[in-house]
Amino acid sequence: MKRAGVVGWPVEHSRSPLIHGYWLKRYGIDGEYGKHAVEPGKAEAFFKTLSARGLVGCNVTVPHKEAAYRAAARPDAAAKDARAANTLWIEDGKLCASNTDIYGFLHSLDAQAPGWDKLGLAAAVLGAGGAARGIIRGLLNRGFSHIRLANRTRERAETLAAEFSPSVTVFAWENRADMLIDCGLLVNTTTCGMVGQAPLEIDLSNFSLPGVVCDIVYTPLLTDLLRQARAQGFHTADGLGMLLYQAVPGFEKWFGIRPEVTPELRALVTTDLEKH
Ligand code: ATR
Repeated sequence: MKRAGVVGWPVEHSRSPLIHGYWLKRYGIDGEYGKHAVEPGKAEAFFKTLSARGLVGCNVTVPHKEAAYRAAARPDAAAKDARAANTLWIEDGKLCASNTDIYGFLHSLDAQAPGWDKLGLAAAVLGAGGAARGIIRGLLNRGFSHIRLANRTRERAETLAAEFSPSVTVFAWENRADMLIDCGLLVNTTTCGMVGQAPLEIDLSNFSLPGVVCDIVYTPLLTDLLRQARAQGFHTADGLGMLLYQAVPGFEKWFGIRPEVTPELRALVTTDLEKH
């Protein structure tokens, strides 16, 4: 039997066992996907001994994504770009790593808002943390040449923009509504709007059809930003799509089948999110 799992601290909240458990059942695979709570400081050693623990690989969640990257002998381009890994597997006895968050983000938009990358307009990104770095990279890979960025702490936005110079232009957080003029995509990568966090306040009146609004927050599933966007007739993509699609490459590496993100899987995880 092949065994994989998710490693984090804490790990209790992770929805990955639900997602991979659904696919194992759907494809009739003799496999197992568990949760591993590993204390900070012990993660690198854990990752280097996956095989000895009987694991074919694992997902990695906060706060261990950087440790997973450091532990890997063979990080792929996505992991190197992010300097962090969320998916580990073993090949030729070597620990390999990827970061599938960008893949998840792009495929979620493809599924929820087909044609989102064909509008030929600029993209606006809110936030300048680790999630924003991956998303900007993904947008550049998909052909966006003009990306506008606003972050509460402007310096962080400037540092991130410098990495992608000259494609990213920084706007003041106070002027974030101005970014939306002639924009085809708005992405929230901040934690604003998440349960227990500050609300995200943004005026969408400068945004125009057929623009797409995407939120990577998935608790709640329908954030105020998405609700506001839908009310104004924009296409939207929620954060659950990214969570589901980022799981696809890992499952394929470990269990040999490229799994499908089905409406049934979405419903299963949605029900679970609504419980908590
Ligand atoms: P991640 O790496 O997952 O993106 P992070 O590095 O903690 O997480 O980034 C969180 C993002 O949400 C940051 O852009 C943060 O802005 P700062 O760089 O100014 O901290 C943003 N954020 C968090 N709370 C916020 C708030 N109340 N208002 C505006 N932005 C907020």
